[in-house]
Amino acid sequence: MGASDGIELLGKPRGPGSDTMLGTPQYKRDRCVTGVHGLDEILRGGIPYGSTLLVGGTCGSGKTTLAMEFVVNGAAMGEATAYFAATEPSVKLLENVRQFSFFDMDMVDKGLLNVFDMDVTYSWLGLTKATFTMDDVNALVKAITDIVNTIGVTRLVIDSVTTLCYKIPNDQLIRDFLFTLGKTLATQGCTTMLIAEITSVGMSHGGGRSLWSSFGVEEAILDGIMVLGDIDRRGHLLRYLQVIKMRGTDHSRAKYALELTPNGVMLTPMLKWGVDV
Ligand SMILES: Nc1ncnc2c1ncn2[C@@H]1O[C@H](COP(=O)(O)OP(=O)(O)O)[C@@H](O)[C@H]1O
Ligand SMILES: [Mg+2]
Repeated sequence: MGASDGIELLGKPRGPGSDTMLGTPQYKRDRCVTGVHGLDEILRGGIPYGSTLLVGGTCGSGKTTLAMEFVVNGAAMGEATAYFAATEPSVKLLENVRQFSFFDMDMVDKGLLNVFDMDVTYSWLGLTKATFTMDDVNALVKAITDIVNTIGVTRLVIDSVTTLCYKIPNDQLIRDFLFTLGKTLATQGCTTMLIAEITSVGMSHGGGRSLWSSFGVEEAILDGIMVLGDIDRRGHLLRYLQVIKMRGTDHSRAKYALELTPNGVMLTPMLKWGVDV
């Protein structure tokens, strides 16, 4: 499916969101429904198809669980999905997510959920050095997009891009990498979550750089940014999720409480918790 396939003219009423304003036809991007409890409501229906999002968060904030649920929910609807694991070996990752009721190992066996170890991908491409050149970065983008093309992947996760970006020697090259990757995946109709490890959430002091990601260079070129973090409430750390930016849709910008339940991620308005945000 091409990126343009994700845009429809809402001339004919098709339920909620398909209305016309003052008789003017409204264009609305079709959505990739995440199926994560509460997230599609926050995004007014889901992620605009073909978007590349940054999911930045602190350690243990729920990034891997959320991203895994995103791909698994796609696989459950028959979509081909791919997950590049860079922070933990794929075997461990699968063992961890098996505990959640949303996960079904059948999806892996049927080829709907394809989990790749980033290390193996690097070795396969001969990228064993500490610092990548532009050619190395291009080879990596080509490898990822070839996999997406071959399998027909519509949901992709790279968990995380942080260690990968540390191998890219300058900000401009990181930007080029993310821009090219995002553009190519969008034309293939693939909706992508790039996970970023961060130590604290918010704006940097003095430098004026936002800290939604590790590098502060990715934000402007990506289609969306979600952050996951912790709020201290009387000595208990509550997890939260906030959508900072999402091109192509209206969305809530409030913080939502994120609970990791046996069924996966649950997002509820913070008010329920009596937390000032
Ligand atoms: N089966 C489970 N049920 C509920 N919470 C869990 C379960 N397994 C792990 N967790 C919680 O999830 C956290 C890890 O979540 P994860 O998605 O891996 O975070 P991140 O990728 O942001 O580091 C653990 O620290 C633990 O608190
Ligand atoms: Mg993780």
